[in-house]
Parts: sequence; structure tokens; C-alpha cells
Amino acid sequence: MMKNKTSIKGNIHYVGVNDRQKHLFENLWPLPQGISYNSYLIDDKKIALIDTVDVCYFEAHLRKIKSIIGDRPIDYLVINHMEPDHSGSIRLIKQYYPDIILVGNHHTSCMIEGFYGIVDEQCIVNDGDHLELGSCKLSFRLTPMVHWPETMMTYCAREKVLFSGDAFGCFGALGGGFIDDNIYTDIYWEEMVRYYSNIVGKYGGPVQKALTKLGNIPVSAICPAHGPVWTTFLNTARVLSLYRKLSRYDGDDGVVVVYGSMYGNTEQMAEAIAAELSAQGVMNVIVHNLSKSHSSYILSDIFKFKGLIVGCPTYNGQLYPEMEALLSKIAGRDMKNRYFSYFGSFSWAGAAVKKLSEFAEKSNFELVGQPVEMKHAMKEETYAECEALARAMAKKIVRTTKY
Ligand code: FEO
Repeated sequence: MMKNKTSIKGNIHYVGVNDRQKHLFENLWPLPQGISYNSYLIDDKKIALIDTVDVCYFEAHLRKIKSIIGDRPIDYLVINHMEPDHSGSIRLIKQYYPDIILVGNHHTSCMIEGFYGIVDEQCIVNDGDHLELGSCKLSFRLTPMVHWPETMMTYCAREKVLFSGDAFGCFGALGGGFIDDNIYTDIYWEEMVRYYSNIVGKYGGPVQKALTKLGNIPVSAICPAHGPVWTTFLNTARVLSLYRKLSRYDGDDGVVVVYGSMYGNTEQMAEAIAAELSAQGVMNVIVHNLSKSHSSYILSDIFKFKGLIVGCPTYNGQLYPEMEALLSKIAGRDMKNRYFSYFGSFSWAGAAVKKLSEFAEKSNFELVGQPVEMKHAMKEETYAECEALARAMAKKIVRTTKY
């Protein structure tokens, strides 16, 4: 049976676009499978557009809009989020639809002026406010810092559809269709965790508040700003449950071992630790070489698992630079609820272990086991120390597995 190419439910349509060209989201995070910029159109007595798309894709966006409403004007542009991947086409939309009314909250308007120089009168909404479109009535929930101060969600009670902005979104362009029930969704679950940990990860508290604010509103479809539209009961429940877990910084049973190594000696410490973790019954042991794994994927795994062991050599009297960069990204996300340990090496004057201990002290992590410091290369006692550290970590992980 031929399916409509834009319809989601009732008079709600998908008018988003795929970006398979950009290599790095925010010029930071890899996009091996691209990304979608989702936008939605409600074709009611009054027509409302919810968010726009990256400005590079405006032509495709406009063509989709016109395929639904022809030459009729759009009455409202609801701005759930001002990051330019969604707001980038506001100025052009305004040129094509000069009478369109921009709808946002008090944080949105100064950003509209700042980014796009638009000072026209806007419709400022607050928590719980409504906007009548005809048969649909939209209501708004302000969800600051999920992921910017102005972020909000929009809800259509008649269709029970939640337009959630960045929340519940994921990396990965869409393969033709956009509704979960009609497309292959396996890749998006991993990409949802990576998106969360990379983009929203710092804001666990605000995400918790947003989830509380949503309460038990009935949801038949979640329409995020990136990735598939989630419509099945199982998927909407899974999306919400994943966000509850990630925002609490709850990790699964497992340990991420991340190391830097110039000539393979520090790498052998990581291998010894990983092998002992496995021997002690830890099923999920994820090992990352900092110089090969992109930090985007390392962060994603750190969000997934409750154990973290890091190690690196001393470099110019400091931490190995790649480790320094990773620790800054971990600290920038206010990570909590992790069992943590570390190891390091040096050739003539040790600094790595000292620097890692300073990180440990400042972190919210529980230090586990005795950190290991190695001079030059592995010796029998280094193996023994690495294995002892791994056993201490395994005890935490395997013990929690049993309950
Ligand atoms: Fe998809 Fe925070 O922008």
C-alpha cells in the first residue's frame, strides 16, 4: 500500500530534511550516518510550522512545506529551540512568509534578534500557555537547558503528539521514511545514547525536571528534532525510560578502560586490567585507545557503564594530551555515579598518575582499588598491581550484578 510521504497523524506532517554531508555535528561530533533536522507542519485552520532546519537545506525544507500547503501562508512558527541546526532557516522562512508570527518564550526572543536580526512582534508563551489552530490546540512546556535556556516542548493534545526538541533525538539521517514503525530503527538506539552523552549530557538535572514536567501526559507519538518519530507504545516507553536512566547517570554493569600509549607499554597495563576484569566475571569490558577512538564514542560508553578506568603516560611533564582533553569532556558533563580508578607511566619523572589523582579528587566518582604507576615498561609487579586494581573494580561491578 502506498504511504503518504509526510503524514504522521491527522493533519500533522513531517517536513524535516537529511544531512548526509556534514562530517562533524557542532564541528565536534562524528556523523558517520549523517543526521536529520526534523521540522513539523500542522495543516489546520491556522497553519503552524514547528522549528526549521539547518539553512543549507532550506530549499528542500520549503519544497516539502509547499507540497502540503501549496501557496497558502504559514500563520505561526513555533520555535522549540534556537540552536542553528533548527533555527538556521528562520530568516528565510520570514522572507517567504512575511506575516508569519514567531512563537517562543522570553529567552527565545533575544536570541532571534541576536542570531537573525529579527525584531518583529512575537508571540511570547509561558508554561502551560495554549495556541489555538482550529481543530488542534497546542500547549507549551518550558524545558530550560534541554539543551539551551530557551528550549521548550510543544504538545498537541488532540493527537497526543509531543514535539520534544533535542530531547529524545539521535544522530543518524533517516532512510527514506521517518516513522519508527516503517523503518529499520536498530542504529538509532545506540545513536540516541551517543547524542545524549555528547550534546545533552551535562544537563541531567534539567532533563529530570523536564521529565517530571511532562508527568503522565498521554503520548501517542514523540516527534524529536533529530531522528525517527517514535509512535509505537514499546518505543515511546523505551525512549522515556532511556532518558530517565541517562539523566540519573545510571550505568549498566560494565567497565570502560580508556588508555593513551605512545609505544605500547601503557597499553599493556590496560590489557592486563581488561583481561583480569573479564577473568573476574565482568561481561562488559570496553577498551578504548584514546588515539584511535573518537571521544564521542568513548563518552557514549562512559554514560553506558558504571565502571571507568583511565590511564596514560606522562608527556612533557603533564598528562598525555589526549587524556587531558577527554578528562575535560568528562568533567564538563558533571558525570556522577561511577566507580573510578586510574594508572599511568613515566620514563624519568612521573606526572600522569599525580594529575589523574587530582582529577579523581575533584570528580564525583568513587575511587576503587590502588592506582598503578609504572616506570618504563611492564614488570611482574606491574602485572600484579594492574590485576589487583582490576579485581577491586570487578568486586564492585560483579557484586552489584548479583542484586
Ligand atoms: Fe539539535 Fe541543541 O540542537
